Amino acid sequence: MRLDKFLCETLGVTRREATILIRRGEVCVNDAVVKVATGKITEQTKVTWQERVLPMPGPRYFMLNKPEGFVCSHEDSANPTAFALLDEIKIDKLHFAGRLDVDTTGLVLITDDGQWSHKITSPKRKCNKTYRVWLEEAIGDDYAAQLTEGVQLHSEKGLTLPATLEIVDASQNELLLTICEGKYHQVKRMFAALGNKVEKLHRESIGDIILDDELEPGEYRVLTAAEIQSII
Ligand code: URA
Repeated sequence: MRLDKFLCETLGVTRREATILIRRGEVCVNDAVVKVATGKITEQTKVTWQERVLPMPGPRYFMLNKPEGFVCSHEDSANPTAFALLDEIKIDKLHFAGRLDVDTTGLVLITDDGQWSHKITSPKRKCNKTYRVWLEEAIGDDYAAQLTEGVQLHSEKGLTLPATLEIVDASQNELLLTICEGKYHQVKRMFAALGNKVEKLHRESIGDIILDDELEPGEYRVLTAAEIQSII
């Protein structure tokens, strides 16, 4: 692919604008400034613009360890957006494949591939999500059975789909909950239906994608090919 076409696709600029960036000396190929728009770019070429390595054109996939206090939307009047944690170009083209509440932490997947994120968020696909939950009150003996059967959420028609509960530390009211739906505030509402209250919530996995324990809160990384392909 020609350098100017590569810039058009990665930066979303016109061919004329790409030529201007190149003429101004803003673009480096393999760490050297280039002034020729027609140079060939391959998978192995490193292209930088304003000291940022530009990704190959094509869909992008990231996992973020969302800290508390950030919202999963492009704009919010009260809180910073989790997109502000990404040092990427064309942020406006990205979206969350399943949101977390402002006070929930953990795994969020971010992409510009709508078909891929649909496989995660579509209720028909029943993609599992596992949450670490800390409850205000003790974990009831009947919770596992009730969550398997389904609970009635306020102002929803049917029961929730079967969910699995694994007690992590009963003395801390800490458990792992796996659900295959993604209704608004679902986990908090499920425990409210059982007469309890979620004190803290952290998402650990989506499908087979597990939050990378090397990522500190606020850090993110590109998904591996295996992680991307695991969503089917
Ligand atoms: N369920 C909730 O209640 N909140 C979240 O952020 C995610 C799932």
